[in-house]
Amino acid sequence: MKLTSLLFVPADSEKKFAKARETGADGLILDLEDSVAGPNKAAARQTLASWIDAHQGPRDWGFWVRVNAFDSGLTLDDLAAIVRPGLDGIVLPKANGAQDLVRMGHCLDALEARAGMAQGTVRIIVVATETAQAMFNLGSYAPAHPRLAALTWGAEDLSAVVGSTANKDDSGDWSQPYQLARSLCLMAAAAAEVPALDTLYADFRDDAGLEASCRVSRRDGFAGRLAIHPAQVAGINRAFAPSDADVALAQRIVAAFDANPGLGTIGIDGKMYDIPHLKQARRTLASVAERVSE
Ligand code: COA
Ligand code: MG
Repeated sequence: MKLTSLLFVPADSEKKFAKARETGADGLILDLEDSVAGPNKAAARQTLASWIDAHQGPRDWGFWVRVNAFDSGLTLDDLAAIVRPGLDGIVLPKANGAQDLVRMGHCLDALEARAGMAQGTVRIIVVATETAQAMFNLGSYAPAHPRLAALTWGAEDLSAVVGSTANKDDSGDWSQPYQLARSLCLMAAAAAEVPALDTLYADFRDDAGLEASCRVSRRDGFAGRLAIHPAQVAGINRAFAPSDADVALAQRIVAAFDANPGLGTIGIDGKMYDIPHLKQARRTLASVAERVSE
């Protein structure tokens, strides 16, 4: 399942849902949480159920739903409405650690059985840094729960609980506490051997800023990113695709090691490459192969 670009769509907007399907996003995250006002949630659940039924067939995007967090008291009603054939996964916000993932897994076990779905069909993307407690439990996701598809992080809810008046510094970069959250999410995902997805880029009119930021995300090791506006999807897909130069170098590294199986270190164009570089080169080529096969 490709997770390079995941576009949030408020679950109470038919117009946005229609538009989102044409964006080329790998997944749509229909949101039942903060973008749907309390009084509209019940209707949005029913609308979503009908959309899932209407889009069961083969499609080139994943159908994800962000449910309300466990502490809202709304989660079970969300799940009861949306766990049905066609749902690919749920996004769990404000998780406090792997215990919330396990709890969600049990809920899904029961609801999948009721819906006649194979156990484990519905995957989970965890938003892993939205509470203060969550920050101390990031190591708990490894080894990964079988339903865990990816970890992502969010700064806004964490800022609210911490009491930060801003989460960016004067240059527009994440301030220290939020860099910590971002970095630990990345490490937690690596430890659990699942992809890490970088958080959204709020300024949806700033295409150049988004692409530059996505290049940093990719450089750091994130596999993809959340989007909030259709205009962001193409830029995200582009920025996370390895460049021709990256692919060419990766091919040369792999070829050089293949040609010299006894060596642990080689030189190419005056630079040293060793086993970590070989692993990274193989990862780059595998991601290209995955793009081609889809
Ligand atoms: N998915 C699908 N379509 C979207 C969209 C989205 N996330 N965001 C905007 N659009 C549509 C608009 O409906 C509009 O359609 P139209 O041209 O047919 O009228 C078009 O794209 C241009 O939108 P624009 O005017 O640039 O933005 P806006 O002011 O209408 O919406 C937001 C701005 C932030 C409200 C909107 O992008 C949005 O709802 N984002 C998702 C919010 C969300 O889900 N948040 C939860 C996670 S943090
Ligand atoms: Mg939030």
